[in-house]
Order: sequence, then structure tokens, then C-alpha cells
Amino acid sequence: MQIVSPSLLAANFGDLRKDIEMINRSEAEWLHLDIMDGVFVPNISFGFPVLEAVAKLCTKKLDVHLMIVDPGKFINEVKSLGAMMMNVHYEACPHLHRTIQQIHEAGMKAGVTLNPSTPVCLLEEIIRDVDMVLLMTVNPGFGGQKFIEHSIEKVRALKELIVRTGSKALIEADGGVNADTGKRLAEAGTDVLVAGSYVFKADSPEERISLLRNL
Ligand code: DX5
Ligand code: ZN
Repeated sequence: MQIVSPSLLAANFGDLRKDIEMINRSEAEWLHLDIMDGVFVPNISFGFPVLEAVAKLCTKKLDVHLMIVDPGKFINEVKSLGAMMMNVHYEACPHLHRTIQQIHEAGMKAGVTLNPSTPVCLLEEIIRDVDMVLLMTVNPGFGGQKFIEHSIEKVRALKELIVRTGSKALIEADGGVNADTGKRLAEAGTDVLVAGSYVFKADSPEERISLLRNL
């Protein structure tokens, strides 16, 4: 069983209400929100005014993924959305321990995100303090990219680190997730699957969510 966190980035922005109502009816437990700044990643998505409207409509837990420099500056804004989880990139946080502490002090769960080229071993000193590790299984910034195969080994390495250290962190995979990659990720040890295109570009998005949930 996997927690499914559909990524709003692949939704129809011309009719967000319809897609959020679909998510509310579905077996997805979370909604994944990708915030980009055009600096940390070469793309810009949506910002807080749009997400405030989304948060009002959505009944699922909000899983916020900040692909921005200095994400610690926006803890209050993310908290105001009513977010359950705030994910910050390891590569964007020189004082990661402090940022994780501040997210917790704000009453949210804290996730640390790794780019594909950032090794799991760098989490050794922080793994007990985080609630989740978000592994990028594509390079961040765009939906619809091809899954990076090496990610499967990375999930296994992360699982080993979590077991060895007694950490309670969940493992979430993000990028190129579909029935095939999702199954292999789940077997390797993920708890949460993010899926954008695979869900929103389908004729029956709710069935796809159900399929991923039951992997
Ligand atoms: C990419 C984002 C992902 C993206 C995944 O930077 O973090 O959440 O929406 O999209 P798919 O599932 O289409 O690869
Ligand atoms: Zn994401």
C-alpha cells in the first residue's frame, strides 16, 4: 500500500476546481504542490495566491515541495496554507538543521528533498530529525520527464539508512512515476508516490490513483 500524492503541476490550470474535486473523491491521501522560482530550477510554476485558492477547495493533506532558493523564508506562508508537510531541498539549505527545526516549530512535518545527483549518505546527520525524504527521480523543474533508473538503488540505500539509524522518515519518490516505475519503487521501499502526468493526463485519473495506491 502506498500513499499517493498527485502533483497539481500536471492538472488543467484552466479548470483547477474540477481536478481538485476529482482528487477529493479519489483514494489519494495527499496533494503535492510544486513551487518553483526560476532560480533554483529553470522554471516557474505557481505561487501562494493560487495555492490559497487550491487549499480552500482541497480536502486532502497538502504536501508542499519548494524548489526555490532559501525556502526557510517562506515557512509562515506555507503554514498559512494549512500544509501538513513542507519539503525543502538539501541543495538549497546551507543551514538545513535550523530550517527543519523552524518547520517543526511552525507545527508542520518536515521533509528534505534530494536532487538525483545528491547522495543519500549526506543525510546521515539529519535523518533522525526529518519526517520524510523526498527523492527526486527526475531532475526538478518539469513534469512529464523520463524516470531515472538509478533511483531504485537510491531508494534501497535510503531504506537501509533509515533502518540502521532507527529513523521514522517516510520515503517519497517524485518524477516519472507510473504503474511500472511505481511498482519497482514500492518494492524497493517507498511509502509515498508523487504522480503528475500519469494521473492527470489519463482518461480515468481516479483509477490510476487507485492503481498506484494498491501497489
Ligand atoms: C518536478 C516536480 C514533480 C512533477 C512530477 O520538478 O517536482 O512533482 O510534477 O511530474 P511527473 O509525474 O509528470 O513526472
Ligand atoms: Zn514535486
